[in-house]
Amino acid sequence: MCGIVGYVGDRDCADVLVDALSKLEYRGYDSAGIAVVEKGVIKVEKCKGRLANLVDKMAVDGKPQGHCGIGHTRWATHGEPSDINSHPHGNKRVSIVHNGIIENYKQIKDFLIEEGYSFVSETDTETVAKLLDYYYVDDPVDTIIKVLSEIKGSYALGIMFRDYPDTVFAVRKECPLIVGVGENENFLASDVPAIIKYTRDYYLLEANEIAVVKKDSVQIYDMHKEPVHKEINTADWDVDAAEKGGYEHFMLKEIHEQPAAVRDTVSPRIINGMPDLSQDGVDMQKLKDYRQIFIVACGTAMHAGMVGKYVIEKLARKPVIVDIASEFRYRDPIITKDDLMIVISQSGETADTMAVLRLAKEVGAATLAVVNVVGSSIAREADMVIYTHAGPEISVASTKAYMVQISVMYLLAFELAYANGTIDKERCMELTAQLGQMPDIIRETLELKDTCSFVASKLVNAESLLYIGRGLDYALSMEGSLKLKEISYIHSESYAAGELKHGTISLITEGMPVIAVATQKKLIEKTVSNIREVKARGAMVILICDNSIEVGEGVADYIIRLPQTDEQLMPMAAAAPLQLIAYYTSVLKGNDVDKPRNLAKSVTVE
Ligand code: F6R
Repeated sequence: MCGIVGYVGDRDCADVLVDALSKLEYRGYDSAGIAVVEKGVIKVEKCKGRLANLVDKMAVDGKPQGHCGIGHTRWATHGEPSDINSHPHGNKRVSIVHNGIIENYKQIKDFLIEEGYSFVSETDTETVAKLLDYYYVDDPVDTIIKVLSEIKGSYALGIMFRDYPDTVFAVRKECPLIVGVGENENFLASDVPAIIKYTRDYYLLEANEIAVVKKDSVQIYDMHKEPVHKEINTADWDVDAAEKGGYEHFMLKEIHEQPAAVRDTVSPRIINGMPDLSQDGVDMQKLKDYRQIFIVACGTAMHAGMVGKYVIEKLARKPVIVDIASEFRYRDPIITKDDLMIVISQSGETADTMAVLRLAKEVGAATLAVVNVVGSSIAREADMVIYTHAGPEISVASTKAYMVQISVMYLLAFELAYANGTIDKERCMELTAQLGQMPDIIRETLELKDTCSFVASKLVNAESLLYIGRGLDYALSMEGSLKLKEISYIHSESYAAGELKHGTISLITEGMPVIAVATQKKLIEKTVSNIREVKARGAMVILICDNSIEVGEGVADYIIRLPQTDEQLMPMAAAAPLQLIAYYTSVLKGNDVDKPRNLAKSVTVE
């Protein structure tokens, strides 16, 4: 949700900014822009569309020459994607890039208009730039402190003042921002992948800390202008993690990284054959006594929570309510200090999920976050954190993050069930051993890629399709359907298979694809009956089931057979084929797989 970068050093600043922005395009790609100090003048280049458009534009205009600058890639909130609304914003004295939303921008704008300022864009960001200009006398840090006391909302800001041509200033609240520390060069970025090629060392800025970044120094101040001394963090991600590594798309690469991501997430948490989350600060004896478990998240992360609900309820016999964060926070939920709130988030920055975490804390509930990005806001605010070890996920469509989120749901369910006495040690060890073997199973399912690509060729011309399943298969169908629609732009819905006949079956017409997931033995006959119902009405059925299930003649047009594992774990076996079907459909449609239209990763606005 907008990416910002900054650079001060000896390299060609425009080149570094463009390179760093290319690693942040997953955060938005409605427009891109940079500002570089060239011979004492702030030179801005920006335009609507992808970063590639900016590069083409600079090839014609000439790129700004200098060693100090800021850059931005935008996901539009206030004002349509256009050249004018692109960042950086400002004037000859001040230039800024912004991630977030300034809630009181209208009042500030009205005030500044009265003071004689004029505005060219429709953005909230321009008001902050002009307010900085309004208060600026000669001290940038004083000016920033004054402006922060007046603006309301969420922000990560990169700021330049013409009078300080070798310095980038930065500040954040709610939106992430790091300061990369190099040798005789320093960086600013919304996320680690942008700078990992240049340095692994970085400061994580806390809310309202102001960073003064020069080539050979980084100073950080609080709102009283007192210096803040911070620890340097070191990223342990591979430099390759932010590159495609020979794959055509990040999504395909990330699908193939799933076995390793699951191994890295699960194996350190299996001790003597038993699940053990105590090193993550999770005390299962306490967890088992909470009255009610809530799992709240958005999108794919919420779908991982659905899998969590099924397995926790089935094995640990604890009631679990799963909800969408944007709904939960506004529906006056019944949650008390006796409850446990689990929030799941890849980015750790999603605004609605963050708000739910705070709401749960306010009522005194215990909070546990399952997060991928180390040091992200959600991770920092939760009482307990279980980090998933997926590494950076660049493709907007989440794949490996989902897989590791569900693997954490399993660890939790198994340990909780054992602590609760609802499964014995033998069963717990058996399930845990199966979970430990999932990387191999997932690797096997990746071998199904040609079959998935063939199935995709049968979907590519569909206008609409349905995913159906029961129980865990229904939870998985939700994710299969979201993946397909978000990157192929084909309308699709997921439905509990038994619910179809209560209305939705009227949508079935001749040739309409229905993807049925049927991995749960107890439910297979029921699901097959539902498949027959849609088949009888002309549907083209693609059945995804495990290789032990016998399917009668004529039930499905195409069958994808999955390797066998404990049926509780079958979502982990079925997820990759569903992702691959979505992926190949998008490729066949010629879509931009990694950057689907209208979307951005890390949704830091409501
Ligand atoms: C879909 C997708 C989104 C995210 C959702 C939550 O592929 O990635 O639905 O899952 O925006 O994001 P996080 O997990 O960062 O909170």
